[in-house]
Amino acid sequence: MEVVNRLVTESLPDYLKNLPVPKSLFGFARLSVTEWASLVPFVGAVSIIVYMSVQTFKPKPPPQKTPVNLKIQKETAKVVNMVDIEDLGEKVTYCRCWRSKKFPLCDGSHNKHNDETGDNVGPLVLKRKS
Ligand code: FES
Repeated sequence: MEVVNRLVTESLPDYLKNLPVPKSLFGFARLSVTEWASLVPFVGAVSIIVYMSVQTFKPKPPPQKTPVNLKIQKETAKVVNMVDIEDLGEKVTYCRCWRSKKFPLCDGSHNKHNDETGDNVGPLVLKRKS
């Protein structure tokens, strides 16, 4: 911690005090090559700090909106499936990933979708009590 203290309280002020910063913008035109070279580390450090600050606080782009349903009955405004509860049988498996070729029933396409995307969707299984 003593090193940091010495850097902040002694070295940095001495370094800044000795920088050839002119009192006006026109003064930059009168700086020598050596004086310009001595400004390079300071300008570089300030540039990095400004760049990192801007990167940290700049607004993130909004997430892209991706539809869940990519191809099933796209010609309709809303996909609705009605099933008579008497026709369910002992067990039926409904798709929740919207990738099944037998939609609304699950055909296992969710496995390929999960492998490709890292998703974890699975079907809705309706089963009568035995
Ligand atoms: Fe979609 Fe199985 S195919 S949940």
